[in-house]
Amino acid sequence: MSLSRRALFAGGSSSSANFAQLVAARGREALVAELGPFGGESGLIPRPHQGEIRLTSNENPLGPPPPAMAAIRDGFAGAGRYPSNVQPSMSDLTSAVADRLGCAPANIVLGAGSGELLKRVAQAYVSPSRHLVTASPTYLATSGVARYLGAEVQAVPLTAAGMLDLDAMADAARGAGLVFLCNPNNPTGTVHSASDVNAFVRTVQRTSPETVIHVDEAYHEYVTDPSYESMAEAAPEMPNVFVSRTFSKLFGMAGMRIGYGVAGGATIEKLQSLALTMNISVPSVSGAYTALQDPAYEPREKRRNTEARQFTVDFFNDHGYEVLDSNTNFIFANIGRPAAEFRSACREHGVGVGRDFPPMEKTHARISIGTMDEMQRACLVFQEVLA
Ligand SMILES: Cc1ncc(COP(=O)(O)O)c(C=O)c1O
Repeated sequence: MSLSRRALFAGGSSSSANFAQLVAARGREALVAELGPFGGESGLIPRPHQGEIRLTSNENPLGPPPPAMAAIRDGFAGAGRYPSNVQPSMSDLTSAVADRLGCAPANIVLGAGSGELLKRVAQAYVSPSRHLVTASPTYLATSGVARYLGAEVQAVPLTAAGMLDLDAMADAARGAGLVFLCNPNNPTGTVHSASDVNAFVRTVQRTSPETVIHVDEAYHEYVTDPSYESMAEAAPEMPNVFVSRTFSKLFGMAGMRIGYGVAGGATIEKLQSLALTMNISVPSVSGAYTALQDPAYEPREKRRNTEARQFTVDFFNDHGYEVLDSNTNFIFANIGRPAAEFRSACREHGVGVGRDFPPMEKTHARISIGTMDEMQRACLVFQEVLA
């Protein structure tokens, strides 16, 4: 395969993000990685470099499935109505999610992205007297909110194998308001088995019964490890367990801002009380509702991601670099040099890769999985940059 510059730069552009949201969700490094050192001060909305292969934010390179895209467009016909007064409405979507998980609509909460739910859970359960337990590194949104609320954040380092240290997290959970358990974890991509997660939940319920456990399953649909099982079906019956999922990843709707959570009725009621009424736009509801109607989409899209991910993992392994076992639409590779160096060299060749993830930023880079064609072109760039 030849890598002409024209081929490399012929690609789509992608979405931009609001400064404040980016900082809140992913920290200041993310902003600098996205915008360059002056982005935060310019007040401009960041733009992807023209034609860049964007492997930065774990988005789905294909966007929404075509029927969902059509439904999003059709949704604009209802733009003059509140999302409760159109079909499909927010309650239609809530019922569709509940049917899928085999629970009641009263066990489901919708969010403007699962990120909104991460924020609400932290608002509901952490405080200056009830600390947060999380991992390091993991997805940062919850810690950001906890710090804002004046709560202590106990960030438990990963094990040497790059896994969440569930024993240490269970110890730290005594007296905590909330535990944030990202499974699969971002940025490592690693996943814990059903038996490990269940044992963790049982331990925390025994030793700290007031503590809420938030299992973030943003990447659930991509998992290929057979020992994994979602907690979503069991959550309604488990005291103090909340599970969040998103339409931003496998369903390709990061720009539509829609996610959901599942838990026992009391937890959902509390989270509903913190919601902005009608927080999901009509086209977003319409797209998400339609995406759930096609049972063939999910396995097809998962297969596509798995193939492109395996190609990328093989590339790194064949060149002598270790990659943590990914069950997501990104990989975390030990490139043996600072991520910042790798990132700026890749960017010069038209490939954007993930931000720094302290404390592993001196050795590891996170690379989102694009289409197979994008990964083939990106790997040629990686080869050149790492040589
Ligand atoms: C682990 C994890 N949780 C939650 C989110 C938030 O996603 P969204 O708000 O788009 O649903 C992300 C986004 O990248 C994520 O990686």
